[in-house]
Amino acid sequence: MTPTLEIVDLVKHFGPVRAVDGVSLTVGVGEVVGLVGESGSGKSTLGRCVTRLVPVTSGQVRIRGRDIALLSRRALRPLRRDFTIVFQDPSSSLNPRMTVGDIIAEPLRLHRLGSAATRRARVIDLLDQVGLPADVVRRYPHELSGGQRQRVSLARALSASPSLLVADEPTSALDVSVQASVLNLVGRLQRDLGFACLFITHDLASVEFLAQRVAVMYLGLLVEIADRAELFAAPRHPYTQALLSAAPIPDPAVQRARRRIVLSGDVPSPVDPPPGCRFHTRCPVAVERCAVDVPPLRPVGPAGALVACHLVDDDGTAPEVSAAMPAPSLGS
Ligand SMILES: Nc1ncnc2c1ncn2[C@@H]1O[C@H](COP(=O)(O)OP(=O)(O)OP(=O)(O)O)[C@@H](O)[C@H]1O
Ligand SMILES: [Mg+2]
Repeated sequence: MTPTLEIVDLVKHFGPVRAVDGVSLTVGVGEVVGLVGESGSGKSTLGRCVTRLVPVTSGQVRIRGRDIALLSRRALRPLRRDFTIVFQDPSSSLNPRMTVGDIIAEPLRLHRLGSAATRRARVIDLLDQVGLPADVVRRYPHELSGGQRQRVSLARALSASPSLLVADEPTSALDVSVQASVLNLVGRLQRDLGFACLFITHDLASVEFLAQRVAVMYLGLLVEIADRAELFAAPRHPYTQALLSAAPIPDPAVQRARRRIVLSGDVPSPVDPPPGCRFHTRCPVAVERCAVDVPPLRPVGPAGALVACHLVDDDGTAPEVSAAMPAPSLGS
């Protein structure tokens, strides 16, 4: 079956800034792939390229087999209903002068889907699906809470039944008390409606909750892609190991016993990324070769994981990264 999304060697440079520098990633039909990595690694840029909110420098973005990376705006317009994005901050992504009903119906109007009456019915149905009462149709975004606004964003994003949703930290700007319910909602909508989802987040717990596979990004490149269970049980790339070691664990005993890998230094600038492995300047186990040869993202181990590290064997055996080095901070 053709995957919903196939990103092939995608590059996005902002002038000298190599924000995304050759990323390939597939999201299958109805699959959720989590995209994680430190602040500035290029996650949002990748999401914006996939949804063509920024022009792509080179590479392919195939949505259901059709490459949209370099299509003109005009050629792209009729295809836009098939892929959407929700952002971190719903207050800035919703038009403050439109009612909730008009906001949710807008994609349907733009793509001339249904009559005015069927669109109204669809809006009510969508409100129900995202857990909002029908009477919010006449309200304005500022009259709603942050969590309610993000529910409206989701209803709008899903109104034209896209096959792909890019969710860029959809809960991180919300009050902590409503984050879990919005995350649950994304999971339920995804299961009910079956869209494919690229889920961008700093929060490894939400990836563990939602994603079937996880891609780890560092300085414009993917360093590891693996099934969720495999990645959380046995992260292979030293960067993934450090990232996981920095994530909070709910069980305090486990948390205390765990060795936190602390990486030294800041993320290098994407204007002038380090040669060889981009992570070698902070990698606790780097050897000379790592500063020279670029490690390709290659299959390792029995379960189809991909890892870009010279020190990981073909059978999947990974170097054990020890404690006592500063871990990347996931917060932003
Ligand atoms: N419009 C732009 N012009 C110039 N540089 C940009 C632009 N957008 C992003 N960048 C740069 O590209 C790099 C990747 O940024 P991006 O926002 O994609 O990272 P991110 O992984 O989403 O980070 P965060 O976790 O903080 O959201 C950063 O160095 C950023 O400064
Ligand atoms: Mg971002």
